Amino acid sequence: MSDQHRLSGGAGHAARRNGTHDSVHKPWREVAAVTRCETEAPFPPLQSDHVFFNVSLMPYAAHPLVCERGQAMRQRLSALRLEDYLNKTERVELHIVNRAIEHMLDIPGIVSVSRDDLLAIYTDEGFHTWMMERFRRRFLSVTRYALAQRPSLSVVRVLALCEAVPATYRGLAIVAAASVTETLITSTLRQAGACDEIYPPVRTLFAEHGADEMRHQAAFVRFANEWVPSLSTKEREFVDELLPELMTAFLAPELPAWRTHLCAAGLEAAAADRVIRESVDPLEVGVQMMEAALVPRRLFERLGMSCAERFAQRASRWRPP
Ligand SMILES: [Fe+2]
Ligand SMILES: [Fe+2]
Repeated sequence: MSDQHRLSGGAGHAARRNGTHDSVHKPWREVAAVTRCETEAPFPPLQSDHVFFNVSLMPYAAHPLVCERGQAMRQRLSALRLEDYLNKTERVELHIVNRAIEHMLDIPGIVSVSRDDLLAIYTDEGFHTWMMERFRRRFLSVTRYALAQRPSLSVVRVLALCEAVPATYRGLAIVAAASVTETLITSTLRQAGACDEIYPPVRTLFAEHGADEMRHQAAFVRFANEWVPSLSTKEREFVDELLPELMTAFLAPELPAWRTHLCAAGLEAAAADRVIRESVDPLEVGVQMMEAALVPRRLFERLGMSCAERFAQRASRWRPP
């Protein structure tokens, strides 16, 4: 891949807002984590007040039954959320984005995202998976928390939706799913690490990944701007219908996983149920889902689709299953 090649453009507003305009417009080789990360950031000793995930995204951690057990439980719960987040991200990279790129490489007539751009993203995603794997190993040796690997509930939901469609639409479905996750992930990475007490290596991991994902977001926005208008009426209707389901599947809280975390951290099953019931506010969940989906909502709305409106209805009506 040429040093002159640029995986850039399209995310100007977001980039300027975050002061990273230059990194969006520099050649891929100069800015991509896979070519740039020569050394790994140090892992300082863990402090008891550190957490590994933004606790404002863990409503159950503020419940009195959790608070009364102290900071150690809060830290353990945040390790379990980090574990889920890494598993979700890894599955997205390998099973959604890179699978979609295999299809996208065969879509004719797209000029704003080149084969070089797509293959650079494919390479980045492979590297992110490896980066997280190495992170898990170092994390274990310094903190003694083992971050287990397992499938991610929300990615299982997304893939089930893609696999349930007629065979001729499978490619469309996976490309739609990747367009959703790649335009969401920058903001979820930013949010996941936006907490004062976060253990610094976690913040660094999210920031390194987020810098690449900002460029991926820009490329997927450019891709969607060309791809959606190129679809037949029937294909467009299919994608429009599927998008709100994909966004919901990806963003709805993983309540069974949260319940499992509470039990793993020492609560009885009945107490875990009570904590979930009393701490998860459907209105707040709806607001968080809308915020997290801001970029894809605007993107598909601008492309004349009605999916954003239907997703808003779904988010506002979300209730615990
Ligand atoms: Fe990634
Ligand atoms: Fe990505």
